[in-house]
Amino acid sequence: METVLSGIRSTGNLHIGNYFGALRNFIRMQRENNCYFFIADYHSLTTHPNPEDLKGSARQILVEYLAAGLDPDQCTLYLQSDVPEVLELYLFLNMNAYLGELERCTSFKDKVRQQPENVNAGLLTYPTLMAADILIHRADKVPVGKDQEQHLEMTRTFANRFNRMYKVDYFKEPQAYNFGENLVKIPGLDGSLKMGKSEGNAIYLRDEPAVIRKKVMRAKTDQGPTQENQEKSQEIQNLFTIMKQVSAPETYAYFDEAYNKCTIRYGDLKKQLAEDIVSCCEPIRERILELSQNEKRLDEVMDAGAEKARANARKTIRDVREIIGFRN
Ligand code: TRP
Repeated sequence: METVLSGIRSTGNLHIGNYFGALRNFIRMQRENNCYFFIADYHSLTTHPNPEDLKGSARQILVEYLAAGLDPDQCTLYLQSDVPEVLELYLFLNMNAYLGELERCTSFKDKVRQQPENVNAGLLTYPTLMAADILIHRADKVPVGKDQEQHLEMTRTFANRFNRMYKVDYFKEPQAYNFGENLVKIPGLDGSLKMGKSEGNAIYLRDEPAVIRKKVMRAKTDQGPTQENQEKSQEIQNLFTIMKQVSAPETYAYFDEAYNKCTIRYGDLKKQLAEDIVSCCEPIRERILELSQNEKRLDEVMDAGAEKARANARKTIRDVREIIGFRN
């Protein structure tokens, strides 16, 4: 069985773009693989959050991932900061990571530009911490977006360098996992190609039905088709793309045909779409509310995840210390 690992950036609520994109694939994968999913709260320190925010956002994410369907009995779900072993590996990797290569990393250069007042060493060594996250569990596959591919490449470099330095064949090269056809990209309701928090066009899993309805009814549309089988404009295509995910195939076919025959009424399309998004999100929202109240359950999940992740991490650290020449 392959080991799959993914870090979850610890900011922001989940929106339906996240859900129908990567998250649904995680939920699928947890059944067939040895999955490690963790909330990257050490990484979030680069932005200097205050203690309440740090704690709050980690919990928030945990709640939403659980509510959406990550199952702690099927995968190892944990907080990065509950596995301090990762920091020992981070230190070892930092000893063989060179200033030049860290400075050349695209994400570092972006941060220097975005926040020149806070270019800390944690930002510089973000890729070695990420490499430690991955190598501590000796993951085979890491589902990552385009923006993380360079970090994964650096992880392979650090893994190989360690092997060469100590003349061992200990770390294997983690590969990017591409969801391929399974990766659904949910567009925005404003006619743009991407739904996102920073784009300000997102429907959140925790949005109340009335909020969802309002957002959908406000979605951009066009003048309507004037000829049969006319190609759809971007804004209309976007509504259909979302509908494909949330509605019954017959519903989709019905509106598609209405569009092609120029009999469609966008108001009806939106009403239907809104109801189907609500039906999709409502059970998740209920679980979010329920879990948010259930501190005990959250603590149990975090404790169990930490224990499983640490057991595996300890083994790696033991081996690595031995290889380097430290006492165990
Ligand atoms: N850097 C990742 C992001 O911004 C989050 C992350 C941290 C991660 N450690 C990881 C992803 C390890 C995959 C593997 O999204």
